[in-house]
Order: sequence, then C-alpha cells, then structure tokens
Amino acid sequence: MYTEKVMEHFNNPRNVGIIAEPTVLVQVGEPSCGDALLLSLKIDNDRIVDVKYKIYGCGAAIATASVASEMVMGLALDEVLNISDQTIADALDGLPPEKMHCSNMAAGALHGAIREYRKAIAVEHPGSAS
Ligand code: FES
Repeated sequence: MYTEKVMEHFNNPRNVGIIAEPTVLVQVGEPSCGDALLLSLKIDNDRIVDVKYKIYGCGAAIATASVASEMVMGLALDEVLNISDQTIADALDGLPPEKMHCSNMAAGALHGAIREYRKAIAVEHPGSAS
C-alpha cells in the first residue's frame, strides 16, 4: 500500500527533534484524525537553515514530515511557500488516496510557520517584511 520511499522515511525519519532556539515554532493538527505536528525552524537571511519536528501521527504523517524537512532545508521562504501537500506526496512517489490528507500537516505547518515569522518581522521592523 505504501511506496518504498514512504517506508524508508517512516523507518528512518530525518531531522526529528526540536531546535533549541528556533526562529519560529508552530503546532498544527489534522482535525480528521487528531494527529499533530510540532515544527521548529531556524531562519537566516530569509532562508531555512535548520528544521526539526516532533510528530504524533500515522506512518504517512511521519514520512511526509520527514521528506518535507529534507525538501525545505536551505530553501528561500518564498520557495517553501510553493511546496504543497501534493508536492510532498509526489516526493514520496505518492500516497494512497485515503492517506493524502496526511501530507496536509507538513505543508500547513511550513506555510503557517513562515506566516508567523513574517508577521513577527513586520511588527519588529515595520516596512521590511516581504
Ligand atoms: Fe492522521 Fe495520517 S491518519 S495524519
């Protein structure tokens, strides 16, 4: 039912943990199943320089968080905003239809974290947020 890539990330999830002094920390939940993702990012010069997460969820949720953490490492924030739940599922060679919602958490957390970060920047330095 799962692709080899899903199983590989599920068995060896990358970047698990929480950054000690993150630039931004967000938690999102998937209302349809009660699973949750806590995502911490270190951002420097509008770019993600470190990412770690803790996840409570199914195998597909673990695999999507893991592959998403690899995808965004080093990316500019605008590039991260182009990553959708479908992009993440594609990076795992697909998810079963009934598990497609599981990739929402990773995409939602990434987008939410960038929104939070930009909101904070706008408050600290009015006029400088992009
Ligand atoms: Fe809840 Fe997969 S079943 S995230």
